[in-house]
Amino acid sequence: MAESSENPGTFYVSTPIYYVNDVPHIGHAYTTIIADALARFQKLRGKEIFFLTGTDEHGQKIEKAAAEKGLTPIELADKVVGRILDLWKDLNIEYDFFIRTTMDFHERGVQQLFQRLLDKGDIYKGTYKGWYCVSEENFLADDIPLEPDGTKVCPDCGRKAGVVSEESYFFRLSAYQQPLLDYYAANPSFVRPPSRMNEVSSFVRQGLKDLSITRTTVKWGIPVPGDPKHTIYVWFDALNNYLTGIGYGWKAELCGKFWPADIHLIGKDILRFHAVFWPAFLMAGGFPLPKCVFGHGWWLKDEAKMSKSKGNVLDPYQILNAFGPDALRYFLLREVPIGLDGNFSHEGFVNRVNSDLANDFGNLVQRTLTMIRSYFGGTIGECGAEAEEDAKLRAEFGTLKERVFTLYDEYAINKALEEIWAYLNAVNKYLAGREPWKIAKDPAQRPRLARILCQAAAAIRGISYLLYPVMPTTADKVWDFLGEKKLLYCVRYQDLAFEGFKPTQEIKEPHPLFPRVALKDFLGEDPPRIETAKAQPKAAPAPQKETHMDQISYEEFMKMDFKVAKILKAERVAGANKLLKLEIDLGTEKRQMVAGVAETYASEDLLGKSLIVIANLKPAMIRGVESQAMLLAAVSPDGKAIIPFFDREVAPGTKVK
Ligand code: ME8
Ligand code: MG
Repeated sequence: MAESSENPGTFYVSTPIYYVNDVPHIGHAYTTIIADALARFQKLRGKEIFFLTGTDEHGQKIEKAAAEKGLTPIELADKVVGRILDLWKDLNIEYDFFIRTTMDFHERGVQQLFQRLLDKGDIYKGTYKGWYCVSEENFLADDIPLEPDGTKVCPDCGRKAGVVSEESYFFRLSAYQQPLLDYYAANPSFVRPPSRMNEVSSFVRQGLKDLSITRTTVKWGIPVPGDPKHTIYVWFDALNNYLTGIGYGWKAELCGKFWPADIHLIGKDILRFHAVFWPAFLMAGGFPLPKCVFGHGWWLKDEAKMSKSKGNVLDPYQILNAFGPDALRYFLLREVPIGLDGNFSHEGFVNRVNSDLANDFGNLVQRTLTMIRSYFGGTIGECGAEAEEDAKLRAEFGTLKERVFTLYDEYAINKALEEIWAYLNAVNKYLAGREPWKIAKDPAQRPRLARILCQAAAAIRGISYLLYPVMPTTADKVWDFLGEKKLLYCVRYQDLAFEGFKPTQEIKEPHPLFPRVALKDFLGEDPPRIETAKAQPKAAPAPQKETHMDQISYEEFMKMDFKVAKILKAERVAGANKLLKLEIDLGTEKRQMVAGVAETYASEDLLGKSLIVIANLKPAMIRGVESQAMLLAAVSPDGKAIIPFFDREVAPGTKVK
């Protein structure tokens, strides 16, 4: 094939760099999973990949979030970065570099880019007066009307904006209105999907004003070169990560090799920053523009965008712990085209995973490989000639491969998966129709049996390969079951063939790929709080009803054995987002207990701390774990537990009364 001899080239894909104000949720996982699938697909084509992700750590939003948590901004950033890195590892994200905007080469790079635009006259000094939303780190448009109380509300997040009036450097954005419009016209697929291109160009046609890009009132930012009382606007800082992250200012060859980016993958919430400001900055700096800015849709919960600020987010670990990374990756990529919004439902998730992955795919693999092992001792050997139906299955794989290739290339991952499933069902039908388990009873039909199982195994091999971008762990496992020695992506896409499976291969014992999980095992008896939480900005909690409890005697009180317990170990309980499993020291003995405090405390917050437990409460089973004590905590109106700790050392086991 001609293609395999050509140099397949490079592919540079990025995700947004995420704010470190809070831990990551399904929405962040989603963008990063799409990027990973695209990168892995291009790896199969033999391209050299650069996959950049990271964190956005400067600015007022982070300054404020850190202060609220009693941390310095960098302490908060370090904590959250730790959580993000763990999540990417657990989701099997194969990125090439994780950039943090507090890295010194990034800070220097941003200052250089700022200076370059200043020297050119595209940045100038003036005074800014206007409204600013800290949550979105965004200046409000002038035409947003005043509220009756004389303030303005951010149209994106619904929060009150504040007034800013200070000396500021401006970027001459107005000068780029026409160049941007010309660029959009000449490159209609610069912004995708097409509906987003229309949205962007009509915004620019309405007129662009110069953009304030420094602040004197924000300390947590990169200083303006030569004028350090100003810090650089967090979006100017953040967007430039796409250049500094591939070596701008520190590794010119890398930058030269990968820039311009093939695709900046982002959520539609930050489209203007990427499709208007960023290309204007790049034009001003004399850089080529990225080939594509893809604005994907949102995952909604209860019909509202899942967001850290709204508090209606889903914890990826709830799903990961119960189902593993590939089920989550598959669901997010299969359920909706990446341009559209999707509404996350636990029922929808469990149904799809059980039907597509456990039934359609998992069973096919398990059945076929088990038959090869039990009828042929693991190696099929000689096969009978292909009958018409066998040849059809082979030929259909060839056309499937071409269609899937094109669809992945067009970022239509959900369509690629649909096509793969249509073929998978055809393979299931093929097997059901041939009934190999019956043929196996007739020794005269052994060559025919061998042929049928060979076709099924070849189809499984091909399907797993096509699924690799979305479900890398599963694909690797299946290839291993099939006795394939090679790393999967050493077989180039263009060389993938149905005949790549040889009947001489020795099949290993398969293990179930996707054990079925029932909704109730996954969610437990009480659905997670997020399920019922209203997504709208939280109303003030209803005043708690005064409840008069029955009086008890001193004797009754003394029946309760309150003791000081020291926490030796703390870990999350699989599939439960509220629960931690604790190992405690009670002085004379150690016990384990389950506590509903995971929404307020991370495991590491509790290690070594002493608190009060009731030690003679009957043990209870909670999510399959025996809890041998109960801790005391205040429960705030929103259901969060706050533990009273001691203000000095107390020995474990000390009586509390
Ligand atoms: O905006 N559904 O960071 P951020 C789908 N630091 N995707 C979602 C989502 C949801 N409900 N919620 C978040 C920032 N995302 C800036 C970016 S880039 C130079 C600077 C994803 O932490 C989606 O990709 O608010 C969205 O664009 C991104 O997270 C925003 O993350
Ligand atoms: Mg955001």
